[in-house]
Amino acid sequence: MATVPQHDSSHKEPLSLAALLKDIDALQSIVASWNEQQRNTVEALRHAIDALHREAFTRLIRALKDDPAAAGRLREAASDEVVYAVLRHLEILKPSLDERLQQALDSVRPYLREHGGDVELVAVEPPDTVTIRLTGACDGCPASGLTLSAGVEKAIREHCPEITNIRKARGHGGGSVNVDFVSPFASMDETGWIALTTLDDLPDGDIRILEAEGRSLLLWRSGERVQCYENACAHLGMPLDGGELENGVLTCPYHGFQYALHSGECLTAPEVQLQAHGVRVVNGHVEVGLA
Ligand code: FES
Repeated sequence: MATVPQHDSSHKEPLSLAALLKDIDALQSIVASWNEQQRNTVEALRHAIDALHREAFTRLIRALKDDPAAAGRLREAASDEVVYAVLRHLEILKPSLDERLQQALDSVRPYLREHGGDVELVAVEPPDTVTIRLTGACDGCPASGLTLSAGVEKAIREHCPEITNIRKARGHGGGSVNVDFVSPFASMDETGWIALTTLDDLPDGDIRILEAEGRSLLLWRSGERVQCYENACAHLGMPLDGGELENGVLTCPYHGFQYALHSGECLTAPEVQLQAHGVRVVNGHVEVGLA
């Protein structure tokens, strides 16, 4: 039978968060073995104590926050792990930006991992910018632009509305080269595919500009693979048709930005890329899933 943890109240050193949580965990495992009525009573007691603490801390903070010096000390105190954990538990403090970013990435990881990929947070530059990196099979995936915009970026924007600038760092280069050109997020949804053309109508090694839903799309075929991008240069958004194409590298006719069409990567400014759309070829028909 689990034993009730005993505290030595004479200790001088502050206890760590881990030590304090260990005691709580030990007590919770004892309570878990009690009958339902006893467990409900303990739960009600916990709620009541939390409500009391929440009210007391809220009043304390309210009383101090108008004094700039006291407000500064409060912010400092809130960075202490124990203070932060208690204020978060009582829902007085909202989750930090880091915490919400991790929640956002965790929410899309199952989809990425299903396809052998993952995402990592590279840098946070408050108040509005983060840099992320796709890894594994997502690294170098020609549809990673779609993967980002449809999945990871959406999750970040939902969890962290203050983040308006999401940058993508270069991958580690470990991704598979034989990736499917349909991104995990595009393939999640069986609806929404637009039949655009046929494989036979796309000249191998060349581009074609087609319209769908009022958008101008750039398609590039290389053998059996087809890539689809928004027909808009990442520099100033100008159309890319008329640009020079050589060995799968397209040069924007306006200011010369160059793009590797197998991935959408911009060779002139590696921090940007063409906006990719999902593509699949079904019985010779080329269908696109717009991002
Ligand atoms: S608009 Fe394409 S390089 Fe400037």
